[in-house]
Amino acid sequence: MKGFLCLVLLMVTVEKTESREPVLHRVGGGRFSWKPNVNFTDWAIHEQFFVGDWLYFGFNKQLYSVLQVSQTSYDNCIEQDSIKNITKGGRDVFNLTEAKPYYFISGGGYCSKGGMKVAIIVQYYISAPSPLTSGSFPITVSSASEFPGKLYLFVLPEVILAYAML
Ligand SMILES: *[C@@H]1O[C@H](CO)[C@@H](O)[C@H](O)[C@H]1NC(C)=O
Ligand SMILES: *[C@@H]1O[C@H](CO)[C@@H](O)[C@H](O)[C@H]1NC(C)=O
Ligand SMILES: *[C@@H]1O[C@H](CO)[C@@H](O)[C@H](O)[C@H]1NC(C)=O
Repeated sequence: MKGFLCLVLLMVTVEKTESREPVLHRVGGGRFSWKPNVNFTDWAIHEQFFVGDWLYFGFNKQLYSVLQVSQTSYDNCIEQDSIKNITKGGRDVFNLTEAKPYYFISGGGYCSKGGMKVAIIVQYYISAPSPLTSGSFPITVSSASEFPGKLYLFVLPEVILAYAML
């Protein structure tokens, strides 16, 4: 039965490798792209953000800044009641620790002037890469764990047959 055990171990190993390294998302797509007249909505819809990932804001700190704000402040470009001022040296990172929407705007009036605002939705990373539809969690976990069981049933008679022929 050695061969069969190896096969089972292999399948278990394959199933357990569903992890993911944190990703650094460069806001706007470049090293220096936190600036006016970049379509950050367009950038954000082509990214997937998971808990543990990081945002990177590269910008000219003489002009711009990064403020984490509420949805209302994001919608209306209000700088005064920010949740957190992330601005440090102009190459600043932000740790996405929760599965929720995050909103950022620039200070200095560049939110309303140049559209320097970005909204992202952070999700929990659940299983192996699966196409996520925005706003919903993948519910494919049960079918994934069903798979080895089926394989087991298909494989077993063949393994027994193989050993019987030796
Ligand atoms: C930005 O991109 C979004 C999504 O692609 C699009 O709907 C929107 O019209 C764009 N905004 C501007 C100002 O081009
Ligand atoms: C955010 O922090 C930067 C750097 O310390 C500072 O220049 C800026 O005025 C701050 N902005 C707000 C709205 O607090
Ligand atoms: C990011 O945030 C998480 C959750 O708060 C924390 O455990 C982790 O240490 C943070 N990472 C860094 C490098 O600050």
